[in-house]
Amino acid sequence: MSEGKTPPRGRLIVLEGGDGSGKSRLTRELERRLSDQRLAVEAVREPGSTPLGERIREIINSESAVDDALAELLLFEAARAHLVARLIEPALAAGTHVLCDRFTASSVAYQSYGRGLPRAVVERANTLATGALTPDLTLLLDLPPAVGLARRHADGRLSHFDALPLDFHERVRAGYLDLAAESAERWRVIDATQPFEAVLEDAWGALRAVVA
Ligand code: TYD
Repeated sequence: MSEGKTPPRGRLIVLEGGDGSGKSRLTRELERRLSDQRLAVEAVREPGSTPLGERIREIINSESAVDDALAELLLFEAARAHLVARLIEPALAAGTHVLCDRFTASSVAYQSYGRGLPRAVVERANTLATGALTPDLTLLLDLPPAVGLARRHADGRLSHFDALPLDFHERVRAGYLDLAAESAERWRVIDATQPFEAVLEDAWGALRAVVA
């Protein structure tokens, strides 16, 4: 790149879905494919990926789980604000594509549809934490919560969210589907009950259209 030239801004691609939907594995595979194409890419997860974010993750996942929905929301938002400021914005500005395992839609789905906080409150907090940064593409790995939870039981990675009643997870799923319908041009709903290879191909097809 010649001196003084600003690279084209990177794309923000977010992976969303209920627990056990396979987002983390898909994030790794998409990162590998983009790198294989010699595209600059960084993969991050929420909450986490910065030292502060990882500490907040430990608090949220600790034995004495946070027992207040607003406090829980603000912990996720603190981790998000740090991640956006320290990693996501600098990467996008440098022309690096960012794959983010969960983002603002998780807070709408879990803290509003799931926990019952007013959606306007969650959206205000999202805007504050991100400076209104909006993903270029959100890939929603959709599957019945009972299927996702059975997968989590099978691989023994249960968090306290997994232990919440099935109707909590049904509300989270409904929240995601509402969000996808509201912004259909920037969301792709993927049937996550398919074999992983088929999920990967669907996701890759949608991603290619955005990073091309
Ligand atoms: P994690 O171990 O990342 O679960 P997964 O592998 O399914 O992504 O744990 C994150 C949990 O936190 C997950 O159950 C969803 C929840 N969460 C929220 O409730 N709100 C949020 O804003 C975010 C980012 C996550």
